[in-house]
Amino acid sequence: DFIQADKAGPNGHIQASTAEPTAVIGASLSRVDGPLKTTGSARYASDYNFPGMVYAVPVGATIASGKISNIDTSVAEKMPGVLTILHHSNFDHVYRNASGGRNSEQRPPFEDDTVYYWGQYVALAIAETFAQAQAAAAAVKIAYTPEEFSVATDLSDPMPAIGAPGGPRILSHRGDPEAVFASAPIKIDYTYTTPAETHNPMEMHATVAIFDGKKFTLYESSQGVMNHLNVMSQVLGVPKENVEVISRFIGSGFGGKLFPWPHSALAAVAARRLNRPVKLTLSRKMMFANVGHRPRTQQRMRLGATPDGKLLSLSQDYRNHTSINDDIRENCGEATPFLYSTANLQVSSALVRRNVGTPTPMRGPGAVPGLFALESAMDELAIKLQKDPVQLRLSLDTLTDEEKNKPFSSRHLKECLEVGSKKFGWEKRTPAVGSMRKGDLILGWGVAAASWSAGRGISEASVSLNVDGSARVSSGSQDPGTGTYTVIAQIVSDKTGIPVTRIQSVLGSSSLPPGPTSGGSTATATIIPAVAEAAVNAIKVVLTTAGSAKGSPFLGKQPADLAMSSGRVHLKNQTPDSGVPFQEILKLANLGSANGEGKTGGYGSDTDGKNFSSHSFGAQFVEVEWDPGICHLRVSRVVSVVDAGRIINTKTARNQMAGAVVMGIGMGLLESTTYDPRNGHPINDNFADYIVPTSADHPEIDITFLDIPDPMIGEYGARGIGEIGLAGMAPAITAAVYHATGVRVRDLPVRVEDLI
Ligand code: MOS
Repeated sequence: DFIQADKAGPNGHIQASTAEPTAVIGASLSRVDGPLKTTGSARYASDYNFPGMVYAVPVGATIASGKISNIDTSVAEKMPGVLTILHHSNFDHVYRNASGGRNSEQRPPFEDDTVYYWGQYVALAIAETFAQAQAAAAAVKIAYTPEEFSVATDLSDPMPAIGAPGGPRILSHRGDPEAVFASAPIKIDYTYTTPAETHNPMEMHATVAIFDGKKFTLYESSQGVMNHLNVMSQVLGVPKENVEVISRFIGSGFGGKLFPWPHSALAAVAARRLNRPVKLTLSRKMMFANVGHRPRTQQRMRLGATPDGKLLSLSQDYRNHTSINDDIRENCGEATPFLYSTANLQVSSALVRRNVGTPTPMRGPGAVPGLFALESAMDELAIKLQKDPVQLRLSLDTLTDEEKNKPFSSRHLKECLEVGSKKFGWEKRTPAVGSMRKGDLILGWGVAAASWSAGRGISEASVSLNVDGSARVSSGSQDPGTGTYTVIAQIVSDKTGIPVTRIQSVLGSSSLPPGPTSGGSTATATIIPAVAEAAVNAIKVVLTTAGSAKGSPFLGKQPADLAMSSGRVHLKNQTPDSGVPFQEILKLANLGSANGEGKTGGYGSDTDGKNFSSHSFGAQFVEVEWDPGICHLRVSRVVSVVDAGRIINTKTARNQMAGAVVMGIGMGLLESTTYDPRNGHPINDNFADYIVPTSADHPEIDITFLDIPDPMIGEYGARGIGEIGLAGMAPAITAAVYHATGVRVRDLPVRVEDLI
């Protein structure tokens, strides 16, 4: 019945999407690039090799703060195969980036002799083979003058007052949350923390750089080839046409590959200096120090309520760590201002500097740690009120964004909670701690709501319909494993009727028409309108040709009288069978292809989207099994219900949601990057010490998409799905852990020692 409700529009006046489901849209299609990946023929950045290529291995600082007093390369330089050792005293000039897009670290590599964090690149050994470069890097002797530093996990540093320079900023405010909280009959006031977490994509960062005397070609593992091009053109001090960034396949990124990291400039400069192709691959160890992480957060949550569950006030005062040189604010209050109805609200945010590498977005940046705090506090409120946590959330649901005072373009949090309850069997839950058993195991059932912003950027795309009956679609975007190659082929197939198997998707080069970064769950919504328009424009060329080509059965017809479907040109009011394959028309006119270009404008440019608040929603239900006899905790069952608009490809979308569940188990139970207080070394920088979930940790995963088109986001009504699946996982896990054990874990991850 929620689908019925949406057709009318949740706010009465919204028109549902005009695009009706077709066979190809919403299909459960395997990735078109799957065979290349599973046969090993897909080439990732570090798989590229060129004649004369040499290898670069960085040397990382072994202090967290201080000055380099001496670099002794005399031994390293004489080692076999070594070409040069580069460092701040002999490096080529590299520039900062102010207008080229977003960089990760503002400070260029080797800018001076200062060290700001353990692992910071301080030298680069280049040799004929990888082993020779590794040996040379190990032989570089560096002396330091260390200085005071901090990697402390507690973020309660003294700080200027709210609003003063360096003090907390108010990000949201309405009503009088302080006074209302002070007099509220029911109060929740707890502080929650989330640790630093490291992105661990299967494929590590790598750059293979070529310089031909004028132009750089950079093979990268990048979630944004266009952004990478724009930044590197600034950093290297060359015009954009002298840089090409190629990233055809990516072994995932989770946000860690959104923006360039210093190794890219190091490889490019080395290639120019030596006039040889240079390969620089990061080790797993370097992944922990040099290419970002989700920063630690500390969040005080205050909720004021009435005994019957009205939310009187909501305050979130949070801090996150950032690096010495960069201000990275984790937007923990991303969902707080609109998720629940309340008249009095404040979100404040502060940065605390630590001697660590620069943090960077990690899947659901801000919202994910923020929802851990908000949804944990909501669970604690439900328990205090003796209310069911699903019912409490339903009673506080709102169809108006009370922050922006705008209706939501499409909000179905209520249906997510209702559908999830049904699928999970929530009505069988008995609220008392430890009251549910399965043999010797104690079961805990928890729930949390999820939210993530929905947006759309600008993009271009090209489509060509070819005389051999195939089609090609291209855009300067990339597919980090999410399914973008497949989704753009589906859109072209939907518009033309050409089967997906005959459509070539081309992504992953900055020489293509500018496309979106794969980030913020916006790539699908951003690229679709450009691809759809390009396909429509290519079809127009075919139809015009059909009306004018000598020998055409449609000679003299106007394009408006004709249509193309099932790959065939026909009279608009007749079936495709009555017409001819489009390639016959192209042959008649001696055309190799019919080409079309398309553009996506920003969100709200073609609908009245700007008058709405747009977000995806979800609800995650978790069962844990706690075995008190052997102190073993396991997530045994997850039901995840997601409202992300129309789903274009059910298979790739389900993959993303299932992956997010697994990542959520990592966040809830396992992951925490630990900095050694003696020297700032992220000391668990390997898979033996930084634990990520394995197959043995997998629960039974049940994914449901509401699949309700968002009428404002675009013709197909598809919002992004990259982050939403993770958003409620950690708080649902800790709620379930409380239900099983009676222990409320407010500091992630849950450790067995917390429970005994
Ligand atoms: Mo996502 S953190 O925008 O890759």
